[in-house]
Amino acid sequence: MFSQKAGPIGIFDSGYGGLTVFDKIRQAMPEYDYIYLGDNARTPYGPRSFEVVYRFTRQAVMKLFSEGCQLVILACNTASAKALRTIQQRDLPDWDPARRVLGVIRPTVEMMDQVSTTKHIGILGTAGTISSYSLEIEKMFPHITVTGESCPMWVPLVENNEFDSPGADYFVQKHLDHILSVDPRIDTLVLGCTHYPLLIGKIRQSLPQGVTVFAQGEYVAESLKDYLNRHPEMDRRLTRGGECRFLTTESAAKFSEAASVFLNDPIEVEQISID
Ligand code: DGL
Repeated sequence: MFSQKAGPIGIFDSGYGGLTVFDKIRQAMPEYDYIYLGDNARTPYGPRSFEVVYRFTRQAVMKLFSEGCQLVILACNTASAKALRTIQQRDLPDWDPARRVLGVIRPTVEMMDQVSTTKHIGILGTAGTISSYSLEIEKMFPHITVTGESCPMWVPLVENNEFDSPGADYFVQKHLDHILSVDPRIDTLVLGCTHYPLLIGKIRQSLPQGVTVFAQGEYVAESLKDYLNRHPEMDRRLTRGGECRFLTTESAAKFSEAASVFLNDPIEVEQISID
Protein backbone atom coordinates (compact mmCIF):
# COMPACT_ATOMS: atom_id res chain seq x y z
CA MET A 1 0.00 0.00 0.00
CA PHE A 2 2.83 2.43 0.88
CA SER A 3 6.43 2.57 -0.41
CA GLN A 4 9.00 0.51 1.49
CA LYS A 5 11.80 3.00 0.81
CA ALA A 6 13.50 4.71 3.76
CA GLY A 7 11.93 8.06 4.60
CA PRO A 8 11.65 10.96 7.04
CA ILE A 9 10.17 10.94 10.54
CA GLY A 10 6.63 12.34 10.48
CA ILE A 11 5.48 14.65 13.25
CA PHE A 12 1.77 15.37 13.52
CA ASP A 13 -0.20 17.89 15.54
CA SER A 14 -3.65 19.44 15.27
CA GLY A 15 -1.88 22.79 14.70
CA TYR A 16 1.22 24.66 15.82
CA GLY A 17 1.61 23.27 19.34
CA GLY A 18 3.45 20.15 18.21
CA LEU A 19 6.25 22.44 17.02
CA THR A 20 7.33 22.69 20.69
CA VAL A 21 7.88 18.91 20.64
CA PHE A 22 9.32 18.87 17.11
CA ASP A 23 11.85 21.52 18.11
CA LYS A 24 13.18 19.35 20.97
CA ILE A 25 13.25 16.24 18.75
CA ARG A 26 15.21 18.04 16.05
CA GLN A 27 17.66 19.48 18.60
CA ALA A 28 18.27 15.98 19.99
CA MET A 29 18.48 14.30 16.54
CA PRO A 30 19.35 16.90 13.88
CA GLU A 31 20.69 14.27 11.47
CA TYR A 32 17.28 12.82 10.50
CA ASP A 33 14.82 14.16 7.91
CA TYR A 34 11.41 15.31 9.16
CA ILE A 35 7.97 16.18 7.83
CA TYR A 36 5.78 18.19 10.19
CA LEU A 37 2.06 18.24 9.48
CA GLY A 38 -0.33 20.62 11.26
CA ASP A 39 -4.07 20.18 10.72
CA ASN A 40 -4.61 23.90 11.30
CA ALA A 41 -7.83 23.96 9.29
CA ARG A 42 -9.51 21.74 11.90
CA THR A 43 -7.73 22.74 15.12
CA PRO A 44 -8.46 22.55 18.04
CA TYR A 45 -8.92 18.82 18.54
CA GLY A 46 -9.33 19.18 22.34
CA PRO A 47 -13.13 19.57 22.46
CA ARG A 48 -13.82 16.97 19.73
CA SER A 49 -15.16 13.44 20.25
CA PHE A 50 -13.04 10.29 20.15
CA GLU A 51 -14.54 9.31 16.80
CA VAL A 52 -13.72 12.65 15.14
CA VAL A 53 -10.19 12.92 16.57
CA TYR A 54 -9.54 9.34 15.40
CA ARG A 55 -10.85 10.06 11.88
CA PHE A 56 -8.79 13.27 11.51
CA THR A 57 -5.63 11.73 12.98
CA ARG A 58 -5.95 8.66 10.76
CA GLN A 59 -6.14 10.90 7.68
CA ALA A 60 -3.03 12.77 8.82
CA VAL A 61 -1.05 9.58 9.48
CA MET A 62 -2.03 8.19 6.05
CA LYS A 63 -0.85 11.42 4.46
CA LEU A 64 2.51 11.25 6.25
CA PHE A 65 2.90 7.57 5.28
CA SER A 66 2.10 8.40 1.66
CA GLU A 67 4.82 11.09 1.81
CA GLY A 68 7.28 8.31 2.69
CA CYS A 69 7.39 8.50 6.50
CA GLN A 70 8.08 5.13 8.14
CA LEU A 71 7.58 6.41 11.67
CA VAL A 72 5.05 9.02 12.81
CA ILE A 73 5.02 10.77 16.18
CA LEU A 74 1.65 12.11 17.30
CA ALA A 75 3.04 15.28 18.87
CA CYS A 76 -0.44 16.07 20.15
CA ASN A 77 -1.74 14.91 23.50
CA THR A 78 -5.35 14.85 22.34
CA ALA A 79 -4.56 12.66 19.30
CA SER A 80 -2.33 10.45 21.47
CA ALA A 81 -5.21 10.04 23.94
CA LYS A 82 -8.06 9.56 21.51
CA ALA A 83 -6.62 8.00 18.36
CA LEU A 84 -3.24 6.33 18.93
CA ARG A 85 -4.39 2.98 20.26
CA THR A 86 -6.97 2.43 17.51
CA ILE A 87 -4.48 3.35 14.80
CA GLN A 88 -1.87 1.01 16.29
CA GLN A 89 -4.25 -1.90 16.78
CA ARG A 90 -6.69 -1.56 13.91
CA ASP A 91 -5.01 0.32 11.07
CA LEU A 92 -1.28 -0.39 11.18
CA PRO A 93 -1.59 -4.17 10.76
CA ASP A 94 -3.61 -3.54 7.55
CA TRP A 95 -1.47 -0.73 6.18
CA ASP A 96 2.05 -1.98 6.92
CA PRO A 97 2.92 -3.82 10.13
CA ALA A 98 6.54 -2.59 9.93
CA ARG A 99 5.58 1.09 10.26
CA ARG A 100 5.14 2.70 13.64
CA VAL A 101 3.02 5.44 15.18
CA LEU A 102 4.04 6.66 18.65
CA GLY A 103 2.47 9.18 21.01
CA VAL A 104 3.57 11.66 23.66
CA ILE A 105 1.62 10.49 26.72
CA ARG A 106 3.54 7.30 27.49
CA PRO A 107 7.05 8.90 27.52
CA THR A 108 5.70 11.68 29.75
CA VAL A 109 4.04 9.27 32.18
CA GLU A 110 7.23 7.18 32.44
CA MET A 111 8.95 10.16 34.09
CA MET A 112 6.31 10.78 36.77
CA ASP A 113 7.80 8.79 39.62
CA GLN A 114 11.17 10.50 39.20
CA VAL A 115 9.91 14.06 39.10
CA SER A 116 7.66 14.13 42.15
CA THR A 117 8.72 13.91 45.79
CA THR A 118 5.25 14.18 47.34
CA LYS A 119 3.86 11.73 44.71
CA HIS A 120 1.01 14.17 44.13
CA ILE A 121 0.91 15.27 40.50
CA GLY A 122 -1.28 17.73 38.64
CA ILE A 123 -2.05 17.32 34.93
CA LEU A 124 -2.95 20.40 32.93
CA GLY A 125 -4.43 19.55 29.53
CA THR A 126 -7.46 19.43 27.31
CA ALA A 127 -10.56 17.70 28.69
CA GLY A 128 -10.14 14.46 26.73
CA THR A 129 -6.46 14.10 27.55
CA ILE A 130 -6.63 14.23 31.32
CA SER A 131 -8.41 10.89 31.79
CA SER A 132 -5.78 9.17 29.60
CA TYR A 133 -3.00 10.58 31.77
CA SER A 134 -4.77 9.54 34.96
CA LEU A 135 -5.34 5.98 33.69
CA GLU A 136 -1.76 5.57 32.44
CA ILE A 137 -0.24 6.92 35.67
CA GLU A 138 -2.53 4.75 37.78
CA LYS A 139 -1.45 1.67 35.79
CA MET A 140 2.26 2.43 35.94
CA PHE A 141 2.53 4.11 39.36
CA PRO A 142 -0.48 3.22 41.52
CA HIS A 143 1.05 5.05 44.51
CA ILE A 144 0.84 8.44 42.72
CA THR A 145 -2.19 10.67 43.28
CA VAL A 146 -3.23 12.48 40.10
CA THR A 147 -5.43 15.56 39.83
CA GLY A 148 -6.43 16.90 36.43
CA GLU A 149 -7.40 20.41 35.36
CA SER A 150 -8.61 21.20 31.86
CA CYS A 151 -7.69 24.68 30.71
CA PRO A 152 -9.88 25.35 27.68
CA MET A 153 -8.72 28.95 27.16
CA TRP A 154 -5.01 28.22 27.02
CA VAL A 155 -4.91 26.77 23.49
CA PRO A 156 -6.84 29.71 21.95
CA LEU A 157 -4.55 32.14 23.81
CA VAL A 158 -1.51 30.53 22.20
CA GLU A 159 -3.11 30.05 18.76
CA ASN A 160 -4.06 33.75 18.73
CA ASN A 161 -0.63 34.90 19.86
CA GLU A 162 -2.09 36.26 23.12
CA PHE A 163 0.03 34.09 25.42
CA ASP A 164 2.08 37.07 26.59
CA SER A 165 -0.89 39.38 27.16
CA PRO A 166 -2.34 40.49 30.53
CA GLY A 167 -5.50 38.55 29.61
CA ALA A 168 -3.44 35.37 29.72
CA ASP A 169 -2.41 36.12 33.34
CA TYR A 170 -6.01 35.81 34.45
CA PHE A 171 -6.64 32.42 32.81
CA VAL A 172 -3.30 31.00 33.94
CA GLN A 173 -3.82 32.05 37.56
CA LYS A 174 -7.41 30.81 37.60
CA HIS A 175 -6.53 27.21 36.68
CA LEU A 176 -3.39 27.02 38.82
CA ASP A 177 -5.30 28.30 41.87
CA HIS A 178 -8.04 25.79 41.25
CA ILE A 179 -5.88 22.68 40.84
CA LEU A 180 -3.72 23.57 43.85
CA SER A 181 -6.81 24.12 45.97
CA VAL A 182 -8.10 20.66 45.01
CA ASP A 183 -4.79 19.03 46.02
CA PRO A 184 -2.41 21.31 47.95
CA ARG A 185 0.19 18.50 48.12
CA ILE A 186 0.92 18.69 44.38
CA ASP A 187 4.63 19.38 43.81
CA THR A 188 4.73 18.81 40.02
CA LEU A 189 2.42 20.20 37.36
CA VAL A 190 2.63 18.45 33.99
CA LEU A 191 1.98 20.45 30.85
CA GLY A 192 -0.08 17.76 29.13
CA CYS A 193 -0.78 19.83 26.05
CA THR A 194 1.70 20.77 23.35
CA HIS A 195 0.68 24.45 23.38
CA TYR A 196 1.26 25.06 27.06
CA PRO A 197 5.09 25.40 26.98
CA LEU A 198 4.45 28.81 25.39
CA LEU A 199 2.82 29.84 28.66
CA ILE A 200 5.55 28.39 30.86
CA GLY A 201 6.94 31.79 31.92
CA LYS A 202 3.55 32.93 33.17
CA ILE A 203 2.85 29.55 34.78
CA ARG A 204 6.14 29.62 36.70
CA GLN A 205 5.54 33.19 37.89
CA SER A 206 2.13 32.26 39.21
CA LEU A 207 3.13 29.17 41.20
CA PRO A 208 3.92 29.03 44.90
CA GLN A 209 7.41 27.92 45.90
CA GLY A 210 7.99 24.19 45.86
CA VAL A 211 5.77 23.49 42.85
CA THR A 212 7.62 22.78 39.61
CA VAL A 213 6.46 22.60 36.00
CA PHE A 214 7.15 19.61 33.80
CA ALA A 215 7.23 20.23 30.01
CA GLN A 216 7.26 17.05 27.95
CA GLY A 217 9.22 18.02 24.79
CA GLU A 218 12.70 16.96 25.81
CA TYR A 219 11.51 13.70 27.40
CA VAL A 220 9.61 12.79 24.24
CA ALA A 221 12.82 13.50 22.28
CA GLU A 222 14.93 11.37 24.67
CA SER A 223 12.40 8.58 24.54
CA LEU A 224 12.42 8.61 20.71
CA LYS A 225 16.21 8.48 20.68
CA ASP A 226 16.12 5.53 23.02
CA TYR A 227 13.44 3.84 20.89
CA LEU A 228 15.61 4.13 17.77
CA ASN A 229 18.62 2.71 19.63
CA ARG A 230 16.53 -0.26 20.68
CA HIS A 231 14.97 -0.71 17.22
CA PRO A 232 17.76 -0.66 14.61
CA GLU A 233 15.33 -2.16 12.06
CA MET A 234 13.32 1.09 12.25
CA ASP A 235 16.39 3.29 12.42
CA ARG A 236 17.56 1.79 9.08
CA ARG A 237 14.25 2.86 7.53
CA LEU A 238 14.87 6.55 8.31
CA THR A 239 16.72 8.93 5.99
CA ARG A 240 19.37 11.27 7.29
CA GLY A 241 19.88 14.59 5.56
CA GLY A 242 18.83 17.14 8.17
CA GLU A 243 15.90 18.27 5.95
CA CYS A 244 12.54 19.47 7.32
CA ARG A 245 9.32 19.94 5.37
CA PHE A 246 6.31 21.70 6.88
CA LEU A 247 2.76 20.92 5.73
CA THR A 248 -0.45 22.57 6.88
CA THR A 249 -4.11 22.15 5.99
CA GLU A 250 -4.63 25.94 6.38
CA SER A 251 -2.84 28.92 4.86
CA ALA A 252 0.91 28.42 4.39
CA ALA A 253 1.61 32.11 5.06
CA LYS A 254 -0.29 32.02 8.34
CA PHE A 255 1.54 28.88 9.41
CA SER A 256 5.00 30.24 8.69
CA GLU A 257 4.22 33.46 10.56
CA ALA A 258 2.86 31.63 13.62
CA ALA A 259 5.66 29.06 13.53
CA SER A 260 8.21 31.82 14.06
CA VAL A 261 6.85 32.04 17.63
CA PHE A 262 7.72 28.37 18.20
CA LEU A 263 10.90 28.01 16.10
CA ASN A 264 13.83 30.34 15.63
CA ASP A 265 14.45 29.98 11.89
CA PRO A 266 12.13 31.10 9.10
CA ILE A 267 10.52 28.14 7.35
CA GLU A 268 8.87 27.28 4.04
CA VAL A 269 5.41 25.80 4.27
CA GLU A 270 3.16 23.88 1.84
CA GLN A 271 -0.62 23.92 2.08
CA ILE A 272 -2.19 20.49 1.56
CA SER A 273 -5.52 18.75 1.94
CA ILE A 274 -5.92 15.48 3.87
CA ASP A 275 -9.66 14.74 3.83
N1 DGL B 1 -2.13 19.78 20.40
C1 DGL B 1 -3.24 19.63 21.30
C2 DGL B 1 -2.81 18.80 22.53
O1 DGL B 1 -1.64 18.62 22.80
C3 DGL B 1 -3.77 20.96 21.77
C4 DGL B 1 -4.51 21.70 20.71
C5 DGL B 1 -5.84 21.11 20.35
O2 DGL B 1 -6.76 21.09 21.19
O3 DGL B 1 -5.95 20.69 19.21
O4 DGL B 1 -3.68 18.34 23.23
